[in-house]
Amino acid sequence: MRIAISTGGGDAPGLNSVIRSATLAALRRGWDVIGIRDGFNGLMFPDEYPESGGTITLTREYVRGIGHLGGTVLGSTNRGNPTEFPVQQADGSWTTEDRSEELVGMFREAGIDALITIGGDGSLAIGQKLSDVGLRVIGVPKTIDNDLAMTDATFGFDTAVDVATEGIDRLFTTATSHSRVFVVEVMGRYAGWIALNSGVAAGAHAILIPEIPYDLTRVAETILGREARGARFAIVVVAEGARAVDGRRSVIGKSVGQAERLGGIGAQVASELEELTGKEVRTMVLGHLLRGGTPSSLDRLLGVRFGTAAVRGLELGHRGVMVALQPPHVSYVPLVSAISKMRVVPLDCDTIDAARDLGISFGD
Ligand code: F6P
Repeated sequence: MRIAISTGGGDAPGLNSVIRSATLAALRRGWDVIGIRDGFNGLMFPDEYPESGGTITLTREYVRGIGHLGGTVLGSTNRGNPTEFPVQQADGSWTTEDRSEELVGMFREAGIDALITIGGDGSLAIGQKLSDVGLRVIGVPKTIDNDLAMTDATFGFDTAVDVATEGIDRLFTTATSHSRVFVVEVMGRYAGWIALNSGVAAGAHAILIPEIPYDLTRVAETILGREARGARFAIVVVAEGARAVDGRRSVIGKSVGQAERLGGIGAQVASELEELTGKEVRTMVLGHLLRGGTPSSLDRLLGVRFGTAAVRGLELGHRGVMVALQPPHVSYVPLVSAISKMRVVPLDCDTIDAARDLGISFGD
């Protein structure tokens, strides 16, 4: 058996833990393991990797000591989706073509029997397509956004929440000293998991998430209410995909591989709150900081559980599935069901109840 491992889309803490554990579990079974560089680019465009090659033989030595490192030793990309490959026309315009059959042919030529694809909804959708055209694929759910259906958690999320919480903690002290309002923008795409969990953990005063459209006059009331009680500072956490009651989101352009590139909501919310409250409001965008650095023990452990479960799944003959955390087990769910729906924060979850009990405003 010869398997390949690929990491695609935005990186997330815990990727190396999955690569290491899947490699070790496969080597123990006497299988060969190939790592593909930068998503599928290493296999599709080997000439672009003249020094090291587009694929790497993953050995025990290669993966030694990487489990605690952030990022991915294989590299990642959200460009060059093989199922919608960008092609420039003679008139200069761009279209896309589906190169999945060609890519599956490349896997065959390289003697690769199966693929473990570690990614979010984009990479898993590519995995689904490759599976449809004949490759044995097993997916591993990765994203700091925690927005994948069918799994209780994705790895990367726990670390992102930890980093966001620490960032908010640090802003608390400076906000208190200067009697300022801070608006902290965090990632999460169209799901509010990171904003909600870090905001509640750090004790923010308002949390704006995509699932609850906000009205800033309500947030201003919370800030001014605090002021009346002698608390002259406030922390507002806003998810990058939060939207106002009139449906407005902050989009800064089109992102490669994603419909929209979100960002800038923090500055918008800050300037409107400044007008509504008359207070000094500063913005902090935590952005890609949430994806970097050392994975938490929970994400490393999840990486080990997912990586080894992917290998066991291949051994059991699974294909076209994703490993999923369904405590106390890691199960196998059809890839198609994992990508068909986004997992957003349920409005009746107890974390929202807890936040409301503490008087945290959601701007509603
Ligand atoms: O999907 C993870 C994520 O971090 C989102 O929260 C964010 O919108 C996106 O990636 C940004 O990715 P990039 O800047 O790499 O395009």
